[in-house]
Amino acid sequence: MNIIIIYASMHHGNTKKIAEAIHSQLGGRLINFTEAKNEDIVNAELIGFGSGIYMAKFHTALLGFIKSLPFMENKKCFIFSTAGIRKNIFLNKGNKLAKKILENKGFEVVGEFDCLAYDTYGPLKLIGGINKGRPNEKDLEDARKFAKSIILDRVKRK
Ligand SMILES: Cc1cc2nc3c(=O)[nH]c(=O)nc-3n(C[C@H](O)[C@H](O)[C@H](O)COP(=O)(O)O)c2cc1C
Repeated sequence: MNIIIIYASMHHGNTKKIAEAIHSQLGGRLINFTEAKNEDIVNAELIGFGSGIYMAKFHTALLGFIKSLPFMENKKCFIFSTAGIRKNIFLNKGNKLAKKILENKGFEVVGEFDCLAYDTYGPLKLIGGINKGRPNEKDLEDARKFAKSIILDRVKRK
């Protein structure tokens, strides 16, 4: 299966760690979104899109990349993110906007993963940040389990 995992990880490399854990189970290509090309998506059978949550959403340029793609038919994808604050608290809508944009592009979102991660953005720096040490080993194990469930339950059996 042609799999590609694309991530945006600008703050502490948190999302990259989750992307690597998922990649360890699924294989395929793991790339930074700055290197992603339309052809990569068009040719892939399963695409992972991951990002840190910045100002309550996926990285703007990654969302822009998705919006620039041609309409996809029957293209399966999964999404994952890391954030300082739990989703649905304050303005953090987690994966929600990315999911909507992907579905509008014709993607079928077959799975979602998110976890809390180290955050020193803005005033949080003054207190040494929050969620120190995360993603931790349990988060990475959860990400690996998520990856296995994607490939076993939601893609191959369809
Ligand atoms: C510019 C900026 C904006 C952020 N905005 C949010 C936010 O709106 N909600 C949130 O929960 N975390 C926010 N964070 C924290 C990040 O989502 C968190 O640290 C995430 O794990 C970063 O992933 P990365 O290390 O892969 O970049 C923000 C961080 C930065 C640098």
